[in-house]
Amino acid sequence: MGKIILGDQILDRPDVHIDLEDRGYQFGDGVYEVIRVYGGKLFTMKEHIDRLFASAKKIKLDISMAPEQMQKLVEDLVKENKVDFGSVYMQVTRGAAPRTHMFPKPASNTKAVFTAYTNVVPRPASQLENGVEAITAEDIRWLRCDIKSLNLLPNVLAKQEAADAGCFEAILHRSGIVTEGSSSNAYIVKNGEVITHPADHLILNGITRQVLVKLCKENGIPFVEKEFELKDLQNADEVFITSTTSEVMPVIKVDGKTVGDGTPGKITRKLQELFEAKINREIMVNF
Ligand SMILES: Cc1ncc(COP(=O)(O)O)c(C=O)c1O
Repeated sequence: MGKIILGDQILDRPDVHIDLEDRGYQFGDGVYEVIRVYGGKLFTMKEHIDRLFASAKKIKLDISMAPEQMQKLVEDLVKENKVDFGSVYMQVTRGAAPRTHMFPKPASNTKAVFTAYTNVVPRPASQLENGVEAITAEDIRWLRCDIKSLNLLPNVLAKQEAADAGCFEAILHRSGIVTEGSSSNAYIVKNGEVITHPADHLILNGITRQVLVKLCKENGIPFVEKEFELKDLQNADEVFITSTTSEVMPVIKVDGKTVGDGTPGKITRKLQELFEAKINREIMVNF
């Protein structure tokens, strides 16, 4: 909807053409980010742009644009499209070149392709209030889940499995060790402690997760990064997931079994309140 960024320009959608041989299209050879817009302001934008550059570096992709320039372009796009509450999707691919697995040779002058567009999406108010249901599924992804890569086929399959079961998310596990959701980070609360998988190569270190770590520290809520098992998930006092679009989302049923008393837990509610306050503080800055 509205205008789109291609490279360093903001264009009308019909003027944007992506090459059939773009490596993002053919190999998933690229990285992406999704940033939330609250009250016309990009939430934790710097963190997202930094992670985009970090993901690109991990796959040896030269974005060929300064982070500050990208930031300015994305801010301009949000203004042009008059997005109040919504999101920005942005991706960088290794560019268009004759299809062969090796990177394009420097002499070919192939340039990374940066694109971004906006969506108008309301916050998931009723799900945040009532909680959602999840299934568990085998984590069949590669071993570099720390990279926010365009290759999302295992995530897509897991999410579809959840949707087919009438659930919101699939919480993934590797041989019984819970890693994260198909498009979110996953947490349990046990005896007052928030527990989540360490931020290593097996999960994406979510920006919402990083915000939560800080909020827990600042507010004296015990936060532990350690492995936990499916049976811990099944016996948890509370379960929740986080992501840019889902925020702090209570999970009230896992694989059909009720979590706690079947309503969002006390610590989850507290974290939702702290997150809400953080959003409101950010909206007010420079307003
Ligand atoms: C696999 C995966 N883990 C975690 C997250 C949460 O990351 P963030 O909080 O940065 O949105 C996402 C978000 O899309 C994701 O796809």
